[in-house]
Amino acid sequence: MEHIIKKLAEKRQAAISGGGADRISAQHKKGKLTARERLAVLLDENTFEEWDMFVEHRCHDFGMQDHKIPGDGVVTGYGMINGRLVFVFSQDFTVYGGALSEAHAEKICKVMDQAMKVGAPVIGLNDSGGARIQEGVASLGGYAEVFQRNVLASGVIPQISLIMGPCAGGAVYSPALTDFIFMVQDSSYMFVTGPEVVKTVTHEDISAEELGGASAHTLKSGVADLSFENDILALLTVRRLFNYLPLNNRQKAPSRKSQDPIDRIDLSLNTLIPDNSNQPYDMRELITKVVDDGDFFELQVNFAKNILVGFARIGGEVVGLVANQPLVLAGCLDIKSSTKAARFVRFCDAFNIPVITFVDVPGFLPGTDQEHNGIIRHGAKLLYAYAECTVPKITVITRKAYGGAYDVMASKHLRGDVNFAWPNAEIAVMGAKGAVEIIFRDLKGEADKMAEKEKAYKERFANPFIAGSRGFLDDVIDPASTRKRIARSLIMLREKKLENPWRKHGNIPL
Ligand code: HXC
Repeated sequence: MEHIIKKLAEKRQAAISGGGADRISAQHKKGKLTARERLAVLLDENTFEEWDMFVEHRCHDFGMQDHKIPGDGVVTGYGMINGRLVFVFSQDFTVYGGALSEAHAEKICKVMDQAMKVGAPVIGLNDSGGARIQEGVASLGGYAEVFQRNVLASGVIPQISLIMGPCAGGAVYSPALTDFIFMVQDSSYMFVTGPEVVKTVTHEDISAEELGGASAHTLKSGVADLSFENDILALLTVRRLFNYLPLNNRQKAPSRKSQDPIDRIDLSLNTLIPDNSNQPYDMRELITKVVDDGDFFELQVNFAKNILVGFARIGGEVVGLVANQPLVLAGCLDIKSSTKAARFVRFCDAFNIPVITFVDVPGFLPGTDQEHNGIIRHGAKLLYAYAECTVPKITVITRKAYGGAYDVMASKHLRGDVNFAWPNAEIAVMGAKGAVEIIFRDLKGEADKMAEKEKAYKERFANPFIAGSRGFLDDVIDPASTRKRIARSLIMLREKKLENPWRKHGNIPL
């Protein structure tokens, strides 16, 4: 028995050594941790249970039969994050560049299948040269098996991807199907076709970093949510994100007691909005003043900055926040912000997280660029997301709510449970100037009369009381009491039950 146990230890050591000391040191020189070091940072100490350490590839071409490394380039299993179960896979770049073989894919599929059975999230750490070239179509099949599981798991268990090295070709589609993507600056990239192919086809000269690095995807494409200076920061932030997520779609997100009183009044909110309603203010400041301990976990910080999305807690309960940001494009809704917010609202809805919406929106962004690129279709995504959403929805109009954007931003008409406005709110079909120019077209050129009409329109419509008189608002509240009013509403809504009619699935405008 003793020698068998010794043999087992040797086999384990072979798997742990991965591609060997030289390749591990090359990985470190690039500023990257190894697959196992990453898991050690991600998971609670001594909680990792590894599976399939002895799995090897089955390839017999190109001399591969003589070159087998136990584990086959991916470390899989489960562990805990702050005492809560999570399944993980971590690609090992030191073994065949983390390239995905049929066996490597089977290991990933195994943890995904088990995660679905027990109802726990999957976190994938991606660092891979893509399809194992020696295996050809077997590898492509392996990817498709993973994609299929990503789709079936979508909305059932949270899925998080970290991109910590190369991720190219069709391989990008597994992370793309997951709920959140984090990238590491300067050492990770994602693209469907790399710089060489781009050069051949379009004659553009572009580096991998420029084409698909962390800044390209957090600033321009919106493919990734956040980027980090190094592996450790990325992994620690995933641990923070994890604290806001339920384990699956049948559970509630974990609540956490806070010393921050739910009836805390913040008088500074009474003076946050400038007297001139065309002047901006920082919606982020408002959010941090309302949520527990000022702690706002913002996602997609650098993409579509005219809308803010992220998680926080109020009264200890996790909420998803969506808020127009008047500092950027006056808080207008455009293609990118509509898509960003729609996806976030759908995540919250799928995972039982109440949605709090702060509204200050002058309308949809005008222009041919927006129209020709499909603001109709993309704006409809946000409308659709709010309208189908059945989790508690609480809306606070802090200033402007004009036109179609009023309807879209979780209005009463889209089954908003509690709709508040601040007393300075302006809720109307359009701004006073535009409105009088249409209604009183015949007064064009008569500046004084027009100004008078504009003033009258503003007095009549640029307030919350007409909407209030119709019951479209449940109350007009003191800004200072916003936290208290939301917290009470959340308690009232705790047992909310609402179901949409049965259907195979809706047809969201994509
Ligand atoms: C097998 C691979 C591999 C691959 C890298 N390696 N990619 N082995 N299949 N796809 C091996 C290398 O041979 C090398 O082995 C080790 O991994 C490290 O690779 P290096 O090239 O030395 O590392 P680096 O210089 O950092 O470059 C990394 C890289 C490059 C940019 C990823 O290796 C590369 O371009 N690889 C090919 C990428 C590719 O074309 N993949 C297929 C894409 S198509 P040794 O033994 O020397 O350490 C695809 C389709 C998926 O993925 C479709 C899904 C639907």
